Amino acid sequence: MTRASYNDIAQWYDQFLRERPVYMEVILPGLLTLVGEVEGEVICDLACGQGWVARELARRGAQVIGLDLAPNLLALAQRYEVQEPLGIGYVQGDAQHAEGLSDQQFTGCVCVMALINIPDLQATFQSVRRILKPGGWLVFAIPHPCFESPHAQWTSLSDPEHPLGRTVTGYFDERQWFSSNPDGVRSRVGDYHRMLSTYLNQLAAAGFALERALEPGPSDRQAERVPGNREVPTLLLIRAHLLDGPQAENMSRV
Ligand SMILES: C[S@@+](CC[C@H](N)C(=O)[O-])C[C@H]1O[C@@H](n2cnc3c(N)ncnc32)[C@H](O)[C@@H]1O
Repeated sequence: MTRASYNDIAQWYDQFLRERPVYMEVILPGLLTLVGEVEGEVICDLACGQGWVARELARRGAQVIGLDLAPNLLALAQRYEVQEPLGIGYVQGDAQHAEGLSDQQFTGCVCVMALINIPDLQATFQSVRRILKPGGWLVFAIPHPCFESPHAQWTSLSDPEHPLGRTVTGYFDERQWFSSNPDGVRSRVGDYHRMLSTYLNQLAAAGFALERALEPGPSDRQAERVPGNREVPTLLLIRAHLLDGPQAENMSRV
């Protein structure tokens, strides 16, 4: 299969999002639990894609700006904004620098299923730090790094209560990878696999404190599609907030 960027697969990805129950039935409820009340919040949707998360937050009263690298996805986001005006602004840019966004512009930032597509995690957390006001929060969702790693496979088991297991190998090998599943996103654009500790340590090094983590189980429709999700989580969602200067310095020394 030819390797693509999200810009090349914008229409396909828009359709994919609408067909997969995991986005609305698993990611969204988890995200809203971690974000909480958004009325009055000024939120950056970092790597917003076609803007579905930005719209969900704006409908709930947040002021939202989305940033993404892919102009074709941003064009779709703008089209949705014309159909349903929610006051969302969209900026084209690279999350690793977020140059189109100002220092301390936002009270919060969400980043959904995108850190895995961005090569420099530390630079990305640093740019989130820069655009957040003091004490600002970050909520991100990623495919679970412990179970969605390059060689992970479903395995049939003889236990009738737990008929499927997940075999994980190559966990320590942090690198970009492409899956062999022709129906998925990863075979097209690839993912950067990182260990769980890399996410947590780099978050701390950028001056964030972990507040809460979720490993949601599947909805009924998601479990029908991927029965193994009844056994192991497919997603990890994290909420963290910015520490103030001296606290952040202590954390980055740990
Ligand atoms: C799996 S999609 C997720 C999009 C959206 N958050 C969602 O939930 O549908 C990954 C997104 O990351 C964006 N992306 C990849 N690298 C980026 C970068 N360096 N800066 C900003 N966006 C980037 C892609 O264009 C794509 O929209």
